[in-house]
Amino acid sequence: MSLIVMGIETSCDETSVAILHDDTLISNITATQDVHASYGGVVPELASRAHTQNIIPVIHTALQYANLHKKDVNVVAFTLGPGLVGSLMVGISFAKSFAQALNLPIVAIDHLYAHVFASFIQFPNEKHEVPSFPFLCLTASGGHTQLLRVKDFTDIEIIGQTIDDAAGEAFDKAAKILGLPYPGGPLIDELAKKGNPFYFSFPKPKVADFQFSFSGLKTSLLYLVRDNLKDDPGFINKYKEHLAASYQRTIIEILTEKTFKAAETFGFKNIVLAGGVSANSELRKTFIDKGKELGYKIYIPPLSLTTDNGAMIAFLGKILYERGITSSLDVKQYATGEKYKKYHSKG
Ligand code: KG4
Ligand code: ZN
Repeated sequence: MSLIVMGIETSCDETSVAILHDDTLISNITATQDVHASYGGVVPELASRAHTQNIIPVIHTALQYANLHKKDVNVVAFTLGPGLVGSLMVGISFAKSFAQALNLPIVAIDHLYAHVFASFIQFPNEKHEVPSFPFLCLTASGGHTQLLRVKDFTDIEIIGQTIDDAAGEAFDKAAKILGLPYPGGPLIDELAKKGNPFYFSFPKPKVADFQFSFSGLKTSLLYLVRDNLKDDPGFINKYKEHLAASYQRTIIEILTEKTFKAAETFGFKNIVLAGGVSANSELRKTFIDKGKELGYKIYIPPLSLTTDNGAMIAFLGKILYERGITSSLDVKQYATGEKYKKYHSKG
């Protein structure tokens, strides 16, 4: 029997709803919130308000695009956490009410583990090879940076993670220092294409093998800019491409060195890159080139599935539902932490 799963994602600043028909994504609609641009980061209260405004139109558009009626949906999956509480609550309340009205099962999904499987999602008329288990996953997003051992959809272990800022946060904070709007990652990516990645050098953090740290890097950019602005008020403008390229190179080197070291240490053959930072053009290229050179299979989701999206929620929702894992109506959002074992297992 074919299955139609709706996935609802509202953990941060994207209101995203997707419809999955079996393995195939037939619609994925995202309303991005521009309201945060001038604040250098997401303002929680503004995010919840925008989700409230966007959720109904996004649901309608997603159904329309899939050429379906709400009665065609079989399962409703939604992000339970981690994320901003107010934002999560909009998606969760909507999902529960929608499911209750239509008498449908619900599946609560951990946002971080949904990112991991974005590479598995198929598009109509273009089937691609998906990663085989076990694999190593680097999830680098605005809120997290983790190296994961993934043995199965419900068997994930953390090998290492950041002890302070996430990689995406390092991009966003650098953008703020350079006077660029939020989210800064895509803007640094664009600027870096025109700069010399070896013009400036930044120190790399000294942390244990599979841990990450990005707050020192951000501070060294801040001091470099502050010191140079004293003598040259036009410093940022003159050097922004080189600053972006050199800073980005440092982040990419850290992510790449640690990931490939983990792959070698733990004997993985397959490496998956996931999360918003996996949209970075230079990071994608570096992983693919290094994978070829060292004999690893590299999987990276298409750009549309790197940053937050309902499709990855629908996909993991479908997998769990098929394994008999559903949630009760009293599940509650969580802001932080690794709760996936609790929600992604039977009983
Ligand atoms: O996965 P995501 O959409 O949200 C979280 O779960 O956090 O990731 C958002 C992060 C932001 O920090 C954003 O700046 C970063 O991903 N990002 C990028 C690029 N596109 C998005 N970072 C570097 N280069 C990009 N092209
Ligand atoms: Zn995310």
